[in-house]
Amino acid sequence: MPTTKFSVEEKYSYLEGFGGYHQSEVVRGANPVGINSPQVPGFGLCTERISGTSFTAPRATNLQTWMYRVHPSLSQGKFSAISTTDNPPKFQLSPNPLQWNDFPMEPGHDWISSQKTLARSGDPATKAGLAYLVYSASKDMDPQTVFFSADGDYLIIPHAGTLDIQTELGSLLVRQNEIAVIPRGIRYRVTVPNGPARGYICELFQGHFQLPELGPIGSCSLANVRDFQIPTAHFEGSIENGIATCQPSNWSVIIKLAGKLYSRTQDHTPFDVVAWHGTYYPYKYDLGRFSVIGSTLFDHPDPSISTVLTAPSHREPGTAVVDFAIFPPRWYVMEDTYWPPYFHRNTMSEFIGVVVNSQDEGKGEGFKPLGALLNNPMVPHGVDEKAHEEARVKVLGPEKVGMEGYMFFLLEAEAMMAVSDWGMDAAAGADVKAKL
Ligand SMILES: [Fe+2]
Repeated sequence: MPTTKFSVEEKYSYLEGFGGYHQSEVVRGANPVGINSPQVPGFGLCTERISGTSFTAPRATNLQTWMYRVHPSLSQGKFSAISTTDNPPKFQLSPNPLQWNDFPMEPGHDWISSQKTLARSGDPATKAGLAYLVYSASKDMDPQTVFFSADGDYLIIPHAGTLDIQTELGSLLVRQNEIAVIPRGIRYRVTVPNGPARGYICELFQGHFQLPELGPIGSCSLANVRDFQIPTAHFEGSIENGIATCQPSNWSVIIKLAGKLYSRTQDHTPFDVVAWHGTYYPYKYDLGRFSVIGSTLFDHPDPSISTVLTAPSHREPGTAVVDFAIFPPRWYVMEDTYWPPYFHRNTMSEFIGVVVNSQDEGKGEGFKPLGALLNNPMVPHGVDEKAHEEARVKVLGPEKVGMEGYMFFLLEAEAMMAVSDWGMDAAAGADVKAKL
């Protein structure tokens, strides 16, 4: 079956379908019918809405969700700044190809405190651009602590390990070879039920991810709509005598705003959404379900045929703030063709990383190195001399290429990506050999 053989069993149920209007309720009748904001919603709930686009965005891209919850998310008290090891990073642009053989991730951190900004373009305060981060969580987030980013959508790309993400709208189990997107503003708590987990985050300050248009490919292939999984409603409470209630409890709410973290407390659980309906929600996707397309006679198609998700730019038609593409092991059959990536210079910046799909990774002692490459616009790159010479004399025949147990990904951004001082230090001394 074209799905990943996960070593960690699924524990949640999901809705299916990217971009659809979904609805979920813990108890029948909790979602009001026909009306969005009744005077008193069923089960004594109150109505809260979260918008991911302006109200007047075109229907095809309009993202709004209605929630029916025990308490509204109103602030109680003021947010106070909290210090982090990633606050505030300084950035610089490099004309050189940059390679990271590994990242110096400190042990003992959780989902929030382990995040390190690697590169950035634009500014979350003006909702422009994006950032690349890496995380290495070896413990659960503190009990009764919830996090959200006001800066952008988090595209989470695990390198290895499992994340259990409890969101306001329900839970996602994100394992090796799966990705998840948590939209801006959605509150969530992350635990690591199977031990340490590490990986990458693409934080999109501008717009939202969508599926690429398929053009002459037709109506299916690449990442298919039905394979995206959306959580179902779950709340930490009970319904007694027709009224939904949650026990009082003290929570810390941590917000990321313009790259800085702030915290405040509240006296009720944020996981009190009994029902929701709308188009703005988190989702996950098994990269093993990606239907790969390639050349069947000669030449390479552009890597855009490997796009899983794209965030369109409004600067130029056909351009993306960022494309997320993957390269699983796949068959090559091209005749009279230079099989490696030809030498090239691109106007887009390319960030390449690796996902481990060896499902034992992370269970034992440590991880395989978490490496990556960054080529900013017009940085020339291609394979090394040895691979180049081999490719020119290779006897061509059908062959499966790519490394079994690995999935390479490409984040291709329209802007130059400035690298943080931490990222530059981590790249120093890396031996730049592979230049995909
Ligand atoms: Fe490239």
